[in-house]
Amino acid sequence: MKTYIITGGAGFIGANYVKFLLSTYSDVQLIVLDSLTYAGNLGTIANDVDGSRCIFVKGDICDQALVNQLFETYPVEVVVNFAAESHVDRSIENPRLFLETNIMGTQNLMDVARKHWVTGKDDKGYPTWKVGVRYHQVSTDEVYGSLGAEGYFTETTPLDPRSPYSASKTSADLIVKAYMETFKFPATITRCSNNYGPYHFPEKLIPLIIKNILEGKKLPVYGDGTNVRDWLYVEDHCKAIDKVVRNGRVGEVYNIGGHNEKQNIEIVKLTIDTIKRLMLEEPAYQAVLKTDLNKLNYDLITYVADRLGHDQRYAIDPTKISNELGWLPETNFATGIELTIRWYLENQAWSNEVTSGDYQKYYDLMYGNL
Ligand code: NAD
Ligand code: DAU
Repeated sequence: MKTYIITGGAGFIGANYVKFLLSTYSDVQLIVLDSLTYAGNLGTIANDVDGSRCIFVKGDICDQALVNQLFETYPVEVVVNFAAESHVDRSIENPRLFLETNIMGTQNLMDVARKHWVTGKDDKGYPTWKVGVRYHQVSTDEVYGSLGAEGYFTETTPLDPRSPYSASKTSADLIVKAYMETFKFPATITRCSNNYGPYHFPEKLIPLIIKNILEGKKLPVYGDGTNVRDWLYVEDHCKAIDKVVRNGRVGEVYNIGGHNEKQNIEIVKLTIDTIKRLMLEEPAYQAVLKTDLNKLNYDLITYVADRLGHDQRYAIDPTKISNELGWLPETNFATGIELTIRWYLENQAWSNEVTSGDYQKYYDLMYGNL
């Protein structure tokens, strides 16, 4: 049995990772540590938490005493750190929270793990580590900054973050890197492109657009809609992290992406088209529509003020993880977006639950009376 602490496991990618591990391996025990911010939802993993194979602990990754207590209570061998403030727009409103969670939380997790995993010193004075332990930092392609029309981010692309969110994630990567160099701390980092799929909080482009289409609301497209993101189905990301945690080389960074670049405006149009097609093919879906089916068209698209410092294009070169670990994405975009849309059509209760708190306040702040 291998015991993991999975931070942020009640959020979008973390919850998908919890479900992936539980359904793939019988010899894992998961301690999910999540402070349940607006983005975390215990209901998402309610069917997975059973108090033995999967244990939920509500708490902050910055809380040293709590993290220490988890290491004292459970034989933790792996920490996978998903917990973060993850939304770029919110980081423009409140940078400080991003620095606290994303940087100091990372440092805290590593410091507690160091204390529990160290076994002694080698002849050069470097710490030695328990066999089989691993800290994994879930990072983002945004640490590389923004691309022009050509080229890809590789693991050696210079770090050039441009938003408070990406600066905080870059800082976290640098502190992980510093621990890997200074203490030979057994860590790995992955940097992934934009994820989409089930349980994605409807502040991010794809779930927000789906929600608004179903409610007959305008679809806010920032700037001219030509910004490019490189989309990856969330389960493919979970499988890539699993490969790196199990077989990735300690001290290495791995980029994750599926060569799936799309302009934002393409995504919005494709989402409208797919929802409309599914509603016509399977009229039962029309029950969740709060507007007239004829109103599902491109007239819903509304160009709004651009995001400050909006990165133009992200595109990942995943050659390293493919060559070294044999990872390849399995879900193409046409399949993934249909799976995602069907999931939202069939899980309105989840959407209603996660937007029942301060969501409307945030929406009004961001989009006014759109
Ligand atoms: P999310 O916002 O959906 O989930 C974040 C989770 O972390 C939530 O459950 C939240 O409650 C929890 N959390 C926040 N602060 C915490 C704290 N101080 N202590 C404990 N828990 C805390 O985010 P996501 O989209 O699932 O992203 C997960 C990770 O993956 C993040 O580190 C993000 O930077 C990274 N990432 C995301 C994407 C993407 O497209 N979503 C792509 C690449 C990398
Ligand atoms: O690239 C990985 C990153 O992807 C992750 O590190 C972040 O955690 C994750 O949030 C995501 O960041 P983005 O800023 O790319 O995602 P978001 O869904 O917020 O926006 C995607 C694009 O769509 C971006 O160019 C901004 C644009 N957009 C977004 C929203 C919410 C709009 O045009 N309208 C919108 O209403």
